[in-house]
Amino acid sequence: MESGMPLSGRQRALIRESWQRVSGSPVQHGLVLFGRLFDLDPDLLPLFQYNCKQFASPQECLSTPEFLDHIRKVMLVIDAAVSHLENLSCLEEYLCNLGKKHQAVGVKVESFSTVGESLLYMLEKCLGAAFSPDVREAWSKLYGAVVKAMQRGWETLPEGD
Ligand code: HEM
Repeated sequence: MESGMPLSGRQRALIRESWQRVSGSPVQHGLVLFGRLFDLDPDLLPLFQYNCKQFASPQECLSTPEFLDHIRKVMLVIDAAVSHLENLSCLEEYLCNLGKKHQAVGVKVESFSTVGESLLYMLEKCLGAAFSPDVREAWSKLYGAVVKAMQRGWETLPEGD
């Protein structure tokens, strides 16, 4: 699983170092990520329905136990990617299936760019001045690789991609 050039040793170190500061409180940081996501694209809110109930507002969604579980799941996937930086290809099949599940619940593949923007926003908020352009580039590359693998789960991918 690769998106362009593989991550360099320095990029892997920057990712591990910065993730240490986020992964200790996954829900807190996941709330920043998804809060930003709903600001950028409020149309994603109706995709989250638990027991067929629709949320009246992002705030309601962000405080529901099932949604907090989704946040934990998202952070675990990122955690798995950070733990396998040298061997991301072992996650390929899992991520492809995860893509399929998201297609099935109505997520458009394009929405994952907005998720990427929200991830970078959350990292910036958490890391402050330590979120250097190099850290940003390393994370963009990793996220790009994860999304590329998930995209394989969408049936409508153009041939050869
Ligand atoms: C556009 C953003 C996203 C939307 C609208 C979305 C929506 C959903 C929904 C509706 C479910 C099923 C209900 C649930 O488990 O809570 C789900 C499951 C899940 N999502 Fe997401 N999701 C998004 C982004 C992500 C991202 C970025 C990741 C990880 C990189 C992720 C990881 C997962 C996992 C691990 C599950 C559980 C799958 C399973 O049951 O095996 N999601 N998602």
